[in-house]
Amino acid sequence: MSEIAKLELNGQTYEFPVIEGTENEKAIDISALRAQTGYITIDQGFKNTGSCTSAITFLDGEEGILHYRGYPIEQLAEKASFLEVAYLLIYGKLPTQAELDSFINSITKHTLVHEDMKQFFEAYPAKAHPMGVLASMVCSLSTFYPESLDPNRSPEAKDLTIHRLLAKLPTLAAWSYKNAMRHPFMYPKNDLDYCSNFLHMMFAMPTEDYKVDPVISSALNKLLILHADHEQNCSTSTVRVVGSSQSNLYSSISAGISALWGPLHGGANQEVIEMLEKIAKDGGDVDKWVLKAKDKNDSFRLMGFGHRVYKNFDPRAKIIKVACDEILEKLGVNDPLLAIAKKLETVALEDEYFKSRNLYPNVDFYSGIIYKALNIPTEMFTVMFAIGRLPGWIAQWKEMTEGNEPIGRPRQIYTGATNLNYVEISKR
Ligand code: CMC
Repeated sequence: MSEIAKLELNGQTYEFPVIEGTENEKAIDISALRAQTGYITIDQGFKNTGSCTSAITFLDGEEGILHYRGYPIEQLAEKASFLEVAYLLIYGKLPTQAELDSFINSITKHTLVHEDMKQFFEAYPAKAHPMGVLASMVCSLSTFYPESLDPNRSPEAKDLTIHRLLAKLPTLAAWSYKNAMRHPFMYPKNDLDYCSNFLHMMFAMPTEDYKVDPVISSALNKLLILHADHEQNCSTSTVRVVGSSQSNLYSSISAGISALWGPLHGGANQEVIEMLEKIAKDGGDVDKWVLKAKDKNDSFRLMGFGHRVYKNFDPRAKIIKVACDEILEKLGVNDPLLAIAKKLETVALEDEYFKSRNLYPNVDFYSGIIYKALNIPTEMFTVMFAIGRLPGWIAQWKEMTEGNEPIGRPRQIYTGATNLNYVEISKR
C-alpha cells in the first residue's frame, strides 16, 4: 500500500501522497498544499525540497554513493572516456561503438568557433576572470545560432545545439586563458581526442612543437568524469530554472556557469589552492588554520571541506585523493602543498568540530593539486569544473524540457513594511 502523509492544521487533516524513487528515497508530494490549505512551505536553501524527479544521477550522501544513470562513479572514472560518459548522461544509456563514433564525429566537426567571436575575446581586459569570459561567451553563442532560440524546434535541432556546445566549450575555455596571457589563440586539432585537444589549445604555441602527454590527458579525462553531474546542486538547479522559462540551451548553461563560479560551489577549487598557499606562506601551521575555521567570529572556512549532501564521505574525493598521489608520482611532481593538504585533512578529520558536523574533504579538496600539477593556472580551475559539468547540465536541461516541467517560480513569505503612503521628497 502506498504511504500517505497527514498534516494537521487548524483542526483539519490533509493528506498528501508519498512518492518513492527507484533507490527507495521518499518524498511527500505537496504540489496540492497551497490549493488545499492556503499555506506554503519555507525551506531556505532548499535543504529538504525536491524540485523535480530525475532519472539521471543518484547519490546517497549518508553512504557516499554516486551513480550516473545507474552506473557507479568508481567504474566510470576507471574505465570510460569523458565523451562516453557525456553520451550516457545525455541520452540515458551507454553508447554502442557505432553510436559513440558518430557522437564523437559530430562533436569533433563543431570544435571551431566563429571567427567573429575572436573580437569579443580581444575586448576583455587581460585581468578578466576566465569564468566571467566563459559565461559571456557561451551566452554569445546563441547570437550566432538564432535557430537555437526555440529549444523545442525538433529533436535533430536540439541535438545539433547540444553537440555544438559540447564541442565549443573547450575551445572557448582555452581561448579565455590564451586571451588572459595575451598569447595567440590555438585552433582545435581534430585528430586529437576531447581532452588532448583542450590541452593542445591551452598549452601549444605556434612557435613550438607541443605533444600532449598521455598521462596528463588521462588524468584530465578522469577529473572531468568525476565532475560530470551531481544532481540538483546550485548550478544545475539554476540551469533547470532558467531553462524552465523555455530559454535556450546557451543562455541556460551560461547561467549555470555563473552559479558554479561562487566559492561555496565550483569556485571552491581555486579557493582551496589559494588557502593552501596562504597556509604555506604563513609557516604551515595547520592547527592555527583549523582553529580559525572553527572560530565563529572568523569568516574563514576550510575550503574543500563540507558538503550539503555528503555526510560521511564524498566518493569523488576518495577517487581523486588516490589519483592525486598517482598522477604526481607519474609526473615526478613533488608539491609541498600536498603535504599541507594531507596534514590539514588528518587534523580536521580528528577534530570534534568537524566530526560532529560531518565535515569531510569534498571533490575540490584534491582536484586543485592535480590541476596545478597539470600546469593549469589557478584561475582556470573552476573553468575545468565547468567543462566537466557540461554534460550533466545538458542532460538535466534536456530532461526538464522533454518532461514539460512548469516554469520554476518559488513563493515567499513577505516580511516588509505594509500600507505606507507616498511622501513627497521635500517632506521626507
Ligand atoms: N569550514 C568550517 N566550518 C564549516 C565548513 C567549512 N568548510 N562547512 C560547514 N561548516 C560549518 C558551518 O559553519 C555550520 O556550523 P554551525 O552548525 O555551527 O553553524 C555547519 O558546518 C553546517 O554548515 P552549513 O554552511 O550550514 O552547511 P551547508 O550544507 O549549507 O553548506 C557548503 C555546504 C559546501 C557550502 C559548506 O560546507 C562550505 O562552505 N564548504 C566550503 C566550500 C566548499 O568546499 N565548497 C565546495 C562544495 S563541493 C563542490 C560542489 O559540488 O559545489
